Amino acid sequence: MKGIILAGGTGSRLWPLTKALSKQLMPIYDKPMIYYPLATLMMSGIREILIITTPEDLPLFKKLLSNGNQLGCRFEYAIQSEPKGLAEAFIIGKKFIGNSRVALILGDNIFYGNGLEQLLKENYKPKGGIIYGYHVNNPKRYGVVEFDETGKAISIVEKPEMPKSNFAIPGIYFYDNEVVSIAESIKPSKRNELEITDVNKAYLELGKLQVSVLDKGIAWLDTGTFSSLMQASQFVQVIEERQGLKIGCIEEVAFTQGYIDTEQLKALAEPLLKSGYGEYLMNLIK
Ligand code: G1P
Repeated sequence: MKGIILAGGTGSRLWPLTKALSKQLMPIYDKPMIYYPLATLMMSGIREILIITTPEDLPLFKKLLSNGNQLGCRFEYAIQSEPKGLAEAFIIGKKFIGNSRVALILGDNIFYGNGLEQLLKENYKPKGGIIYGYHVNNPKRYGVVEFDETGKAISIVEKPEMPKSNFAIPGIYFYDNEVVSIAESIKPSKRNELEITDVNKAYLELGKLQVSVLDKGIAWLDTGTFSSLMQASQFVQVIEERQGLKIGCIEEVAFTQGYIDTEQLKALAEPLLKSGYGEYLMNLIK
């Protein structure tokens, strides 16, 4: 299983904040935003990851994450020059994906909660596609999934005017290798994007889409507006200060998953000692 993080787009819904800098590099409390989805993929057991971003932002992501060796992973980078949709990730990433299965996570989606690691690890060998539904107050801004009485997904609509349910589809998706040819076969939508919703609809029509409801004990945080961006930071701060444990800490995930050893963790911690982040990593060794 390989992974893709999509961190493109103009971020125009957060201008002027994101005018000169990628949205996915904005701080969420004590880390850049991309740490959170990256930690989620790494926690799922995925170590080969393609980061797709804009030509302007690519050098910055490389500066931050380099080739992934330091985390016992392998990171590659690719460019999405225009925001042509989430599903384009599979076309841009075709060579990287090769014959593998692939998980896609959006660079601005933050997940946190008990049982998440276990849940994600179950998706290691999807036969078809695996996506989630998450109960939200206002589903209109998202892809929305409708279930029948037996809990079977029956329709998926992107940003519906009249949502048929309150279940939004979060930005984490697991697919078998067929996703590449499906992405190549769909047509751009009215907003001129290759929609991930159309990929999911194709799997649904083939009878190969598994849609599970994410437990309400799992937090799926939004970063799409000034206020939700701030709330995400506050959420992380409250949990981290209360528990003394970090959320989205890629160095910790690399260590606990066994991707790196104690010496490698120490090397990551040392340059971060001044901020206190490094001390947290050192304490993991103790
Ligand atoms: C995208 C997807 C949508 C999904 C959402 C999750 O929306 O198109 O189906 O529910 O991400 O964050 P966008 O960010 O393009 O508005």
